[in-house]
Amino acid sequence: MRPGDWVIPADAGLGTWRTQAVFPEASLLQVPSDIPLLCAATLSVNPCTAYRMLADFESLAPGDSVIQNAANSGVGQAVIQITKATGIRTINVVRDRPDLPKLVERLKALGADHVITEDMLRKPEMKEIFKSIPKPRLALNCVGGKSTTEMLRHLQPKGTMVTYGGMAKQPVTVPVSAFIFRDVRLRGFWMTQWKKDHAHDKESLSSMMDTLCQLVQRGQLGAPACTTVPLEDFKEALVASTQPFTSSKQVLLL
Ligand SMILES: NC(=O)c1ccc[n+]([C@@H]2O[C@H](COP(=O)([O-])OP(=O)(O)OC[C@H]3O[C@@H](n4cnc5c(N)ncnc54)[C@H](OP(=O)(O)O)[C@@H]3O)[C@@H](O)[C@H]2O)c1
Repeated sequence: MRPGDWVIPADAGLGTWRTQAVFPEASLLQVPSDIPLLCAATLSVNPCTAYRMLADFESLAPGDSVIQNAANSGVGQAVIQITKATGIRTINVVRDRPDLPKLVERLKALGADHVITEDMLRKPEMKEIFKSIPKPRLALNCVGGKSTTEMLRHLQPKGTMVTYGGMAKQPVTVPVSAFIFRDVRLRGFWMTQWKKDHAHDKESLSSMMDTLCQLVQRGQLGAPACTTVPLEDFKEALVASTQPFTSSKQVLLL
């Protein structure tokens, strides 16, 4: 590394709440200095989580499909963009809201193939979607509760659901029939654990970061929808971050 290089912390929590620091080179990951600052600042958690969940649980090929809830979350937006770049189709579940068409438009502009509400998961119209794309082999669950149970119904037999978040603070309930007749696989993922497990496997980490940075450089992966807030206004950012339907990350500027 040389003066002027751009780096991000290799692990979560490193370097927060400060503008300058001295670290061993091994604690930092170099990123290209020609990518947008907000992309670099938000790269190490959500896009990496999306990338790993798409790569490590099912071997997906162009034309396959993935279903995910909380599709407008930071992770969800990265899933939409990474799948779009690799030819995988997505069914994206969001909560209903007053300005739903605006959100649908925004997610489709990112590359989402289908955007539906949680209520629609139970409707017969779902059949229409599966006329044009195959049933998903992978489901990404960020919510729990009813949303997850309904989403699971659409998974292919022997498909995998990966839980990485629990926004509804409700347990995941799985019908017995999903195990007996469809042999679904339920897995979990935690990026922090992946980094610990791969602490000596620098190649996996750098290959993931290279791929993500190339997607950014090609304009296929952007930062999530963000509101940038000067540090002194952190209280406003905290309030905004707890409101439903904001669909915007609060990024503090130090
Ligand atoms: N396991 C891991 O390695 C890993 C990595 C990254 C993130 N995460 C976790 O994943 C989750 C999302 O992270 P993020 O940074 O992507 O979040 P984010 O950008 O802040 O988005 C939060 C999402 O949750 C939705 N949501 C909130 N309450 C909900 C509810 N009761 N029912 C359904 N949806 C609800 C929001 O939708 P609305 O617009 O409808 O409010 C939004 O889509 C967090 O729990 C985070 O801790 C886990």
